[in-house]
Amino acid sequence: MSQVAYTPRVFSGIQPSGGLTLGNYLGAMKRFVDMQDEGIETIYCMVDLHAITVWQDPDKLRRATRELCAGYIASGLDPEKSILFNQSQVAEHTQMAWIFNCVARMGWMQRMTQFKDKAGKNAQNASLGLLAYPSLMAADILVYHTTHVPVGEDQKQHLELTRDIAAKFNHDYGVDFFPITEPLIEGAATRVMSLRDGSKKMSKSDPSDMSRINLTDDADTIAKKIRKAKTDPEPLPSEVEGLAERPEARNLINIYAALNEQSVAQVMADVGGRAFSEFKPMLAELAVSKISPISGEMARLMQDTAEIDRILASGAARARAIAAPILKQTYEIVGMVGA
Ligand code: TYM
Repeated sequence: MSQVAYTPRVFSGIQPSGGLTLGNYLGAMKRFVDMQDEGIETIYCMVDLHAITVWQDPDKLRRATRELCAGYIASGLDPEKSILFNQSQVAEHTQMAWIFNCVARMGWMQRMTQFKDKAGKNAQNASLGLLAYPSLMAADILVYHTTHVPVGEDQKQHLELTRDIAAKFNHDYGVDFFPITEPLIEGAATRVMSLRDGSKKMSKSDPSDMSRINLTDDADTIAKKIRKAKTDPEPLPSEVEGLAERPEARNLINIYAALNEQSVAQVMADVGGRAFSEFKPMLAELAVSKISPISGEMARLMQDTAEIDRILASGAARARAIAAPILKQTYEIVGMVGA
């Protein structure tokens, strides 16, 4: 079956559960901003329906959704150029997800490492939504016939599943309707690690606040967290290969490279041979210079939540205009009777 030519379109999403970390920023948001000016339609979502697969306090969820929107804008997304909206305002996502629940297989869902990690030992007690989550994520992407999805490394398996769902739908119904989406997992910071343990991902759910940099941290807190970040006693190597067995050093170098928009090799050439006592203040200064303006702008935007709500409503209307005809065609393919 030949692949139909799809108009290039970018979609990605972030959960409004807890605050935003440097991992979210470097792995996702900064990349969203880069893609905004490439002449492709860009759609960025606050996936509130994903967030409730684990318990969320309603007031905190409302605040986190608005704060995420403020974070998107403060990072450089322009609500005129990119479509910004929260998932629950576009019902087509959940309508498409139901169709995909009937395409995806139980075994596919049960194999998802994120489900296994989040459900833990007590999987019987996890919500059904947590298991079905990747099917909603595939719907988020495919209801726009998205061709490219910028994400961090941890979303790779979900994107492979999205491709499997698209391929099975196309095969089962004998159509060439859904694109086989390309994941874009690129740059020096596709997997930002914890500052306390170089083998663990930096995450908003880590119990230790010292393990992560939050986009809302002030300059002193950012500097303190970097000063206290776990390292080893050796000076930094001058070659990339020298980082192979040094996860903490590699993580700090990757963060530096991504923040400074340099390759890891360039950074190594500049800082190789230096002790961490010299490198950490450089990294702290760089991080503060990039993050502080974002947190300041987020705080300013959060003073006018009515304006944020207007941006989300207008983004949702634009998103719906793309999603509704694709859902309608999907219903026709599947055999639903309608006008
Ligand atoms: P979420 O909310 O966990 O994370 C949002 C984005 O941030 C990236 N990220 C990281 N990147 C590098 N290093 C880290 N330590 C780090 N932590 C998080 C994630 O890879 C992600 O790109 N399932 C998704 C949300 C989602 C979605 C979608 C994404 C729902 N529907 C459709 C793309 C397309 C999630 O939970 O991301």
